[in-house]
Amino acid sequence: MNQVEAKLRPDPACRVIDLSVAYRENAVLENVSIVVPRGVVMGIVGPNGAGKSTLLKAMLGLVPELTGRAEFFGRAFEKARGRVGYMPQSSSVDWDFPTTVFDAVLMGTYGNLGWIRRPGRSERARTRDALERTGIADLATRQIGELSGGQRQRVFLARALVQAPDLYIMDEPFQGVDAKSQQAILSVLHELRAQGSTVVMVHHDLATVRASCDYVTLLNRRVIASGPVADVFTTEHLRTTYEASGGDAFLDLPR
Ligand SMILES: Nc1ncnc2c1ncn2[C@@H]1O[C@H](COP(=O)(O)OP(=O)(O)O)[C@@H](O)[C@H]1O
Ligand SMILES: [Mg+2]
Repeated sequence: MNQVEAKLRPDPACRVIDLSVAYRENAVLENVSIVVPRGVVMGIVGPNGAGKSTLLKAMLGLVPELTGRAEFFGRAFEKARGRVGYMPQSSSVDWDFPTTVFDAVLMGTYGNLGWIRRPGRSERARTRDALERTGIADLATRQIGELSGGQRQRVFLARALVQAPDLYIMDEPFQGVDAKSQQAILSVLHELRAQGSTVVMVHHDLATVRASCDYVTLLNRRVIASGPVADVFTTEHLRTTYEASGGDAFLDLPR
């Protein structure tokens, strides 16, 4: 690639470069490098304890790295913060916190508000729109503690949508979700992709990787393989990813 081509070519949505993380002396991620092109849905796949959640957190500066870094649209996270939305694992959140669905989603807009500005008409309109898109408009006045797992994930997704990021980073958006919510979430993700947004999500249901993702990273402390699903999601690679972990999930693999 010559210099002119390099200029014309946009930076990928995300690039992870030689990232290593340890909790105390336990190495969790070793020299992880990944490129996420713009406009794809990338699944991060691997057994329990593989370091998937840690990878997302380290990318976003929520846990310290030993080596390496992540870039978003060619810039460090601090410089690209407004273009990146994070949806944490549902189990990591206190759902007993007394708030309504509407307010929980509205709070997602606060990041875009200036100092001491209160959410106004436009933030409330964006909130209503996000509730419509995720199919939970009828739950707007409900307390978040009363929701089912699938409804909670849709609240999370709506909260990410109101921030209108260019890149969505999601930790197991389908965890504890019924078939109807799974379909609702998946169709929003595919809509986002059609609009040019990028999604990176931890996904641990091997049976639905092909239907949900264009790209996949197979992770077990290190990257086993990363790239388009057709190249990477092979029996051989999956065996390597799961063999050290008892292979339970591997038995469910679609062949
Ligand atoms: N805050 C933490 N302190 C110490 N160890 C942790 C912490 N978070 C995760 N771990 C350990 O790091 C490893 C990877 O965890 P995690 O990133 O949550 O994996 P995954 O999301 O793939 O299941 C596991 O062995 C886990 O027990
Ligand atoms: Mg996890």
